[in-house]
Amino acid sequence: MFTARYGPTALVLGASEGLGAEFARQLAGRGLDVVLVARRADALAAIEAELSKQVKVRCVVADLATPGALATVAAATADLDVGLVVYNAALSPLGPFLSQSLGENLKAIDVNVRGPVAFAHHFGARLAARGRGGLVLLSSLTAFQGSPFVSTYGATKAFNLAFAEGLWFELKERGVDVLSVCAGATKTPNLLKAAPDGAPGMLEPKQVVAEALDALGRAPTMIPGVFNRFASFLMRRLLPRRTTITIMGQQTKKLHAGR
Ligand SMILES: NC(=O)c1ccc[n+]([C@@H]2O[C@H](COP(=O)([O-])OP(=O)(O)OC[C@H]3O[C@@H](n4cnc5c(N)ncnc54)[C@H](OP(=O)(O)O)[C@@H]3O)[C@@H](O)[C@H]2O)c1
Repeated sequence: MFTARYGPTALVLGASEGLGAEFARQLAGRGLDVVLVARRADALAAIEAELSKQVKVRCVVADLATPGALATVAAATADLDVGLVVYNAALSPLGPFLSQSLGENLKAIDVNVRGPVAFAHHFGARLAARGRGGLVLLSSLTAFQGSPFVSTYGATKAFNLAFAEGLWFELKERGVDVLSVCAGATKTPNLLKAAPDGAPGMLEPKQVVAEALDALGRAPTMIPGVFNRFASFLMRRLLPRRTTITIMGQQTKKLHAGR
């Protein structure tokens, strides 16, 4: 069923480590060939070596912060029947907004917002033309309220959530399932750099990806993990908005201070 709807090939953008590498592993485990995109060729080659025993793997080196990335990936996949696209890569400048460089913040908008729009436009059309497929955009619990010390990143994740939900409605009648994954803290190299001691409710990438792939085609949006679903319910539905922003600020301040 999964392979028939989302196969034969999945494209994972930001696939060299963390959640992206885990998406590639689990999609290969479900029998899909995979195209892996990231900037580091050596890290991609390591995932390729691992997965090529099971499925066909193609690596594409591209920087998703650059406008040419879509053309590079589109050309590298033109001969493939791509049935699933996972836009996983993100950039998250951490710290007080005014202490960060404007360039890094604008680059976060390129990777986290311009990238998903560009790839959803190109591959959404390809998926709709074949009448079946899936598009997964990685969002975050930071999407639901302002997130101090990752203010730009949080706002880009709010964009991913709203964008995916709009596309979910538009594309479902074209046979394409769109899902926004609002992950909480997940044990990836990127998060562990900022929070070596972990964070409340932190999940393994394996669980996040397994729950996300199970939710694809069933809902427009999902939150992995019972703790995260409960915390998010409390923060969105019961607490005043200024309290939720303050809680987020206190948590993120620890990450920033611990660097
Ligand atoms: N980890 C968490 O706690 C958490 C929580 C909520 C949401 N999320 C979301 O989950 C997704 C994955 O997070 P993550 O923690 O696994 O790591 P991440 O640092 O957001 O992404 C890592 C992957 O993206 C690639 N990447 C980053 N910038 C790129 C660029 N400019 N061009 C091409 N590839 C790029 C990296 O490869 P290269 O370095 O080789 O390019 C790597 O494979 C993100 O969208 C994030 O917002 C994560």
